[in-house]
Parts: sequence; C-alpha cells; structure tokens
Amino acid sequence: MSKSVKRCLPWLISLSLHLVVAAAGKKVPAIIVFGDSSVDTGNNNFIPTIARSNFLPYGRDYDDGLPTGRFSNGRLATDFISEAFGLPPSIPAYLDTNCTIDQLATGVSFASAATGIDNATAGVLSVITLSEQLAYFKEYTDRLKIAKGDAAAAEIIGEALYIWSIGTNDFIENYYNLPSRRMEYTVSEYQSYLLGLAEAAIRRVHALGGRKMDFTGITPMGCLPAERIGNRGDPGECNQEYNAVARSFNAKLRDLVAKLNKELPGLQLVFADTYDLLAAVVDKPSEYGFDNAVQGCCGTGLFEAGYFCSLSTSLLCRNANKYVFFDAIHPTEKMYKLLADTVINSTLHVFM
Ligand SMILES: *[C@@H]1O[C@H](CO)[C@@H](O)[C@H](O)[C@H]1NC(C)=O
Ligand SMILES: *[C@@H]1O[C@H](CO)[C@@H](O)[C@H](O)[C@H]1NC(C)=O
Ligand SMILES: *[C@@H]1O[C@H](CO)[C@@H](O)[C@H](O)[C@H]1NC(C)=O
Repeated sequence: MSKSVKRCLPWLISLSLHLVVAAAGKKVPAIIVFGDSSVDTGNNNFIPTIARSNFLPYGRDYDDGLPTGRFSNGRLATDFISEAFGLPPSIPAYLDTNCTIDQLATGVSFASAATGIDNATAGVLSVITLSEQLAYFKEYTDRLKIAKGDAAAAEIIGEALYIWSIGTNDFIENYYNLPSRRMEYTVSEYQSYLLGLAEAAIRRVHALGGRKMDFTGITPMGCLPAERIGNRGDPGECNQEYNAVARSFNAKLRDLVAKLNKELPGLQLVFADTYDLLAAVVDKPSEYGFDNAVQGCCGTGLFEAGYFCSLSTSLLCRNANKYVFFDAIHPTEKMYKLLADTVINSTLHVFM
C-alpha cells in the first residue's frame, strides 16, 4: 500500500468489525468535518501557509510514524469518532488530490489549522476561511452526485454526521492577539458576532441537505501551555479570563443549538461539551494517567508549535502518552481519544 493511499485510508476498515452497530436507526454513512487545527487532517499541506505540521515530530505515533498534517503525535478526535461509527479509522483531507471521491464518500475534513469562524482569523496566517470550507463542501456534494448518482449522494449527505470544531483561534489568535477586533467589539459582542456566523454556516449545510450535526464547544483555552506563558497577570497559571470567555461562549452556543433545533426542519444538532473534561484533566492529570498537563511534549513545551517543534527535537519527550499536550497548543493523541469519547457519548445514541 503506498503512502498516499494510506493517507486516504490508513488502515483497513476491518478494524471496525468489532463494533456493535445498533440495530435501531440508520447507519451514519460518513463523517464530514469543518473546523481548525483540532480537526485538520492535512488540508494546510496543500495551501501556502506556515500553519503546517506535515513533518516530524508530528505524526510520530501515527500508523507507521508518518506526519500527515495533523497537529498531534497521532490521530485526532474525529478519527476516533469515525472509527466508533464503524467508518474508517482516519478521515482524509479534502484538498489531498490523491484521495478519490470514493474514499471521501465515507468521510472528509474541510478543516484548516489556524482558521476561525471569523474570516479575519483565517487571514492572520492565510488559511482556509469557514466560508471557503462551505464552498468546498458544495463542490463535494456536486462531485458525489456525479460519482454516485443523485439518490445515493442525497443519502450520504442527508445521513452523514457533520462535526464542527472551531472558535478557539478567534480568541487566542485574533481577538486577544491583534488590536482590530478588540477595538471594534467587546468580548460579548464578538461572541455574538461569531455565533451569528456559526448559525449562518449551520443553515448553509442544512440547506444543502445536512441534518445530523455535532458542534463541539471550546475547551479551557486559558490552560493551553502557550496561554499560561502568555499570562502576564499570573505567569505559568491558566488564564482565567480566557477560560471564562470559553464558558460563556459555550453557554451561548448551547442556546443557539436549541434555537436551531426548533427552527430547522429535521435538524438534529448536538452540542458536545468538552470544557469540563479538559478542565478536569488539567486539574488532576494523574487521575487520567498523565504526568504533565502544563508543558507540551515538543521542545520546552511552553511556546513551540508548528515549525518550532521540528527545530527543537533534542528536547522532545519520550512518551507522549504521559502528556496532555503535544505542542504548546494541541492535545496529544491520548487526550484526543478522551475528547472523542465525550463526543461519541453525546452523539452515538442519537445517531445510530
Ligand atoms: C500522490 O501520489 C503520488 C504517487 O504515490 C505521489 O508521487 C504524489 O506525491 C502524491 N501527491 C500528493 C499531493 O501527495
Ligand atoms: C467572508 O469572506 C467571504 C469570501 O471568502 C465572503 O463571501 C463573506 O461575505 C465574508 N463574511 C463576512 C462576514 O465578512
Ligand atoms: C463515555 O461513556 C462510557 C460508557 O457509559 C463511560 O465509561 C465513559 O467514562 C464516558 N466517557 C466520557 C469521556 O464521558
């Protein structure tokens, strides 16, 4: 099997045979993903940006130690979710031209590392905006119709599980990092602005036929190693202001989810709360089998992400399973597996 094929379908689907697929309800035929680096499986490899991770140490625990563009040592939460639904154990990136439409028909990620809900966030590192992800999704639906026929394509689009994982960068990369949005909006106004755009995106996918969806809330972003270091008020500690912003954003997101479920015919939108899990892990890492929740595995673990992780290889940790974070921003595969379990627990019984 060539490497490129493995990027599209890294392991054989037989891995999923042990899964018990509930008899009731229709099977989810595909997982379709929109978002940022938490769910980008390699799209940024194919655009000119520095927001990349298609080099070691990223991917060192992935399949045969292959960097893919995932910002972790191994798989992402969405890869585990796909497997739990009886689908392939990894989700291919849409822009990988080596993946055929047949391979993309069981799952695809349109996500782009460093992007946000706000176009301006994507602009910071010239990555793919959420609007562009939606345009690619429209193109995908057209390609599916040509490859599979209208009826089969409509079945895939209508029964697929759509996962949204986005929003953190709008705060840490944009709002708190650059002056322009802060001059324009209070944090509460900015949250409303973002949620208005998220609503429009959900409505767009619904209009194109999507019905089953998970919007994953944002995590305690003030506890990311990079944000601890950047915490001027209390260096090394979690930035409590950022955590409060994440909690209030999630509360508003929960309201939006309830509103859209009432308004949009047939919509089954689930809000998956991952805030409390990551907060609990950071608070008591040893209860979850981790030794370190303060530094990332790569480099000093305090600020390195992307290319900086490839420069400081001598400091790389030995066993990423002991770390909550792989770099100063992104979880390890082991942490992603725990986050995936939360999403699986809140979606599997609804959609299977
Ligand atoms: C696609 O696969 C071919 C053949 O394996 C390989 O030479 C090429 O680099 C791959 N293209 C991309 C974009 O990965
Ligand atoms: C974001 O950019 C797209 C073009 O890529 C544009 O169509 C859209 O209106 C923009 N959204 C906002 C809210 O400015
Ligand atoms: C998911 O559900 C299983 C079975 O009910 C439970 O054992 C596990 O702790 C849950 N995991 C999370 C992260 O909620």
